[in-house]
Amino acid sequence: MTAFQRKPRVAREKELLEKAARYLPSGVRGATFDPEYAMVAESGHGCRIRDISGNEYIDYLMGSGPLLLGHAHPAVVEAVAKRLDKGSSYLMVNEPAIELAEAIVECVPCADKVCFNSTGSESTFFAMRMARAFTGREKILKLEGGYHGTNDYALMTTQWTREPSTYPTPVADSAGIPRAVLDQVLIAPFNDIETTGALIEQHHHELAAVILEPLQRTIPPVAGFLEGLRELCTHHDIVLIYDEVVTGFRLALGGAQEYYGVVPDLTALCKGIASGYPISVLCGRADIMDLADPRRMLKGDHVRQTGTFSGNSISCTAALATLRELRKEGFYASLFAKGRRLMDGLQRSLEAAGIVAKVTGEPAAFQPWFTDAEVIDFRSTLGADAAMNTRFTELLLQQGIVKAHEKFFVSAAHDDGAIETTLAAFESVAVQLAST
Ligand SMILES: Cc1ncc(COP(=O)(O)O)c(C=O)c1O
Repeated sequence: MTAFQRKPRVAREKELLEKAARYLPSGVRGATFDPEYAMVAESGHGCRIRDISGNEYIDYLMGSGPLLLGHAHPAVVEAVAKRLDKGSSYLMVNEPAIELAEAIVECVPCADKVCFNSTGSESTFFAMRMARAFTGREKILKLEGGYHGTNDYALMTTQWTREPSTYPTPVADSAGIPRAVLDQVLIAPFNDIETTGALIEQHHHELAAVILEPLQRTIPPVAGFLEGLRELCTHHDIVLIYDEVVTGFRLALGGAQEYYGVVPDLTALCKGIASGYPISVLCGRADIMDLADPRRMLKGDHVRQTGTFSGNSISCTAALATLRELRKEGFYASLFAKGRRLMDGLQRSLEAAGIVAKVTGEPAAFQPWFTDAEVIDFRSTLGADAAMNTRFTELLLQQGIVKAHEKFFVSAAHDDGAIETTLAAFESVAVQLAST
């Protein structure tokens, strides 16, 4: 194994980065916003991504999660290529979309019916709208630090909030979110059923839904938390929404609801399903999902939830090909074994170097927090050393390993060679971190 040596930027990459700075608001997009490490992606194959200058990195950013099978999986490429000359978007039901809806209902415990969208933000947005229409109530309770995308209702007190407010007051995480929407959202702490339960009891008459990531970012639910929410929501006829944009198909075929064994009423799915082709899914109980039937327009209780590209045949074809791979015997056991080696190796290397850190998550998606606190909710992450995390990410990049600022996304394409290289990098980066 030869050590990674980053090749200098070629003229074409410099030129493209200059253009990007001129035409794109941030100029860069990737593992870091530091121009020093900016790169222009050229291609991805398996667990590796190449930049225009010919550097090849082991990729744990993985498109921010969708590439459960790795980049350009041959079965997905072949299925998509076969379909391409039939067109893409018809705004009509088509064979791949219908077959995919059936497959999702077979896999996901809460799913009786399915609506297709293009992004995770759309599906969480429509889930909340469905819940409001179904219950006739307006407010949404979301959990502090949970991320549900960029729609106005979701982008409050997410992991980017630096100063949390007192419960249940939300903090808008973007300029441009109307104050009126803030009045419709209540914030409660993840993994604290007493405080969250008391807020639900107090506001149940105005609550349409509780929305959460069952694995919040990389913080697993403590015993009883999901069960407690389920019980309260059932008792008060509040719609329980799981945002499984990350956990869907990643933790299990049936997502976090299968993995943790607590089933919601509605679920948003997105990243794991189609190997990087744009599609998201809102699925759930038939009595709620039926509100999306346009024939209800005359009755006046129809929930409009449609999009130009919803159910496009190419994304649905990619999803069907992906699901065929995920359903193969041993897929999740193998994915989790890879992730477990990486997670354990990272924790071991940090400890051996004397760095105080907690690696949290599940083997298929995890991250280190540079803190001595027990990481159980958003507030317990606020004391983590963010500068050390940035340095960790950059040192890994220098060793030819790309990760998101937060998570490592593990895929089936991370082979033994890539894992060995990563484990060796963890050891040397931990030593470097300890000496700075
Ligand atoms: C848990 C979760 N929900 C929703 C979203 C939003 O998905 P999208 O970026 O496709 O709109 C994300 C994106 O990272 C996410 O992680």
